Amino acid sequence: VHKHFLEEDFVEPVDPADFRAVMSHFATGVVVVTGRAVDGTPVGMTAQSFSALSLDPPLVMVCPARSSTSWPRIGEGHRFAVNVLAADQAELSRHFARSAADKFDGQAWTWGEYGCPLLDGAIAHIECDLEAVHPGGDHYIALGRVRKLASRLAEPGAEPSPLLFFRSGYRSLTPSDAPR
Ligand SMILES: Cc1cc2nc3c(=O)[nH]c(=O)nc-3n(C[C@H](O)[C@H](O)[C@H](O)COP(=O)(O)O)c2cc1C
Repeated sequence: VHKHFLEEDFVEPVDPADFRAVMSHFATGVVVVTGRAVDGTPVGMTAQSFSALSLDPPLVMVCPARSSTSWPRIGEGHRFAVNVLAADQAELSRHFARSAADKFDGQAWTWGEYGCPLLDGAIAHIECDLEAVHPGGDHYIALGRVRKLASRLAEPGAEPSPLLFFRSGYRSLTPSDAPR
């Protein structure tokens, strides 16, 4: 135990730039997490830290930064929706990643049946109750209990095409990336 303690003492601190650069090799989809603030305003933020978590009960998770101004307003509504972005929504991803009070102005969206904003053109919508918020360093780990689910019905022969994020840039699948 003592030897282990000494070794730990000499581990170099992780450089934040290295951490970002190496983590950027983990490819993800991109979502916009949306909610309704208590004053009725639609609120949303881009996130890639989204994952399915549990099947029974059906839980998803997303990790909002403590510094986010949107997250507390989403959380106060106790519900959120996850909008899974399509390949042609990179500009929407950038838009919802900028801190602003009026991110929904000029956007195509509707209130979902579960009370959260749903963005037009997303390939899937997942509406949740906010189940729990756990600490995670400079972020939170927010768990959602899934209440409503919808995905874009592909035209026969056409696959829904997701927006991907890899090494700090947007990507999309090409036809040669067919499932295998
Ligand atoms: C592709 C991409 C992924 C992002 N993922 C996250 C994330 O998982 N968690 C997070 O807190 N912020 C993430 N951000 C940044 C937030 O979208 C951004 O900080 C937030 O919208 C700032 O606005 P706010 O002050 O209104 O919260 C991401 C941004 C981009 C472009």
